[in-house]
Amino acid sequence: MKKIRKIGILTGGGDCPGLNAVIRAVVHTAQRQYGIKVCGIMDGYSGLIHKTVCQLELADVSGILPRGGTILGTSNRDNPFHYAKETRSAPDDYHDVSAEALKTIETNEIDALLTVGGDGTQSIAQRFFQKYQLPVIGVPKTIDNDLNGTDVTFGFDTALGVATAAIDRLHSTAEAHHRVMVIEVMGRYAGWIALHSGMAGGGDVILIPEIPFKMDKICAKILERQKKGKRFSLVVVAEGAKAEGGQVVVARQVRDGSDPFRLGGIAAMVGNQIEDRTGIESRFTILGHVQRGGSPTPFDRILATRFGYHAVAAAVSRKFGCLVGLRGTGIKTTTIKEAIAVPRRVDAANDLVKTAMAVGTCFGK
Ligand code: F6P
Repeated sequence: MKKIRKIGILTGGGDCPGLNAVIRAVVHTAQRQYGIKVCGIMDGYSGLIHKTVCQLELADVSGILPRGGTILGTSNRDNPFHYAKETRSAPDDYHDVSAEALKTIETNEIDALLTVGGDGTQSIAQRFFQKYQLPVIGVPKTIDNDLNGTDVTFGFDTALGVATAAIDRLHSTAEAHHRVMVIEVMGRYAGWIALHSGMAGGGDVILIPEIPFKMDKICAKILERQKKGKRFSLVVVAEGAKAEGGQVVVARQVRDGSDPFRLGGIAAMVGNQIEDRTGIESRFTILGHVQRGGSPTPFDRILATRFGYHAVAAAVSRKFGCLVGLRGTGIKTTTIKEAIAVPRRVDAANDLVKTAMAVGTCFGK
């Protein structure tokens, strides 16, 4: 069995708090436990295409544990299997440059590649694994928490904290002005951030992609509260939520991203309709990328560190094509193929949904 001498690591897709904690754990574990060298691929798969690789020493990862972002940079463009030189190129300008990207692995003598990312990053890792038997190990990250193979992705807990703090702030101003406050949180096509932050922040209405809503149900809930003397309401809406029989609200359509749709704007639609239908003054807030920035929570720092350590161990045991994940309290591996087969979404029969309903939360149904 060939000995692993050098590990490569890249961070792909949208950034999230905890990426630096993974990089730090990987460098420490590789060097201290196994005497393995580590190199960083810059800006996700872009670094493989453009051959931007750097050696990572212990000194390079010193002090990065609490820092948001990623010292390696990231990109949710630059898919080597579907790549165009220019941003927003015409559809026929996209080419498969994966063989070129692979050369970067070979020339840098990388024996295993750790791909830290969400479904987009892991799908590309899987293609490399299938087409070239590239020795990859996946590490699941995303604030959206929508990846299978793990009970939770790192980054989610930090985003949840930011969203909950924002809801708390909106609570007091909503109450003071007797208004409806609608807050839009991220999550793409999964409602995890909205569900958890809505519950933690005491949202009166929570709208998630998995439960299409009816405007009249939302308005009935708000009017019922008003009748009982509660002259304000908080509505937490996931960016991917949609009305029954309706479509998601798209802020912009693009050609070069891993997802052609940039979601955004549902809060304005919901807020304006509430005001029109109930006569209660409404405002909306789109929380946006604030949810992805800043220092990771202790939970995310620890989870990211555990993932980094176990990803190196998985590489040493040559568990290629696998993804490390949290299962209960332990770290286990599953195949990347399994993890990306279907997105992890909220089940409407989920205990959290039932619990939220039991305490009076309206899901617009
Ligand atoms: O996947 C993470 C995420 O923050 C989503 O919640 C959001 O829809 C998307 O990325 C935004 O991506 P971008 O960085 O391209 O604006």
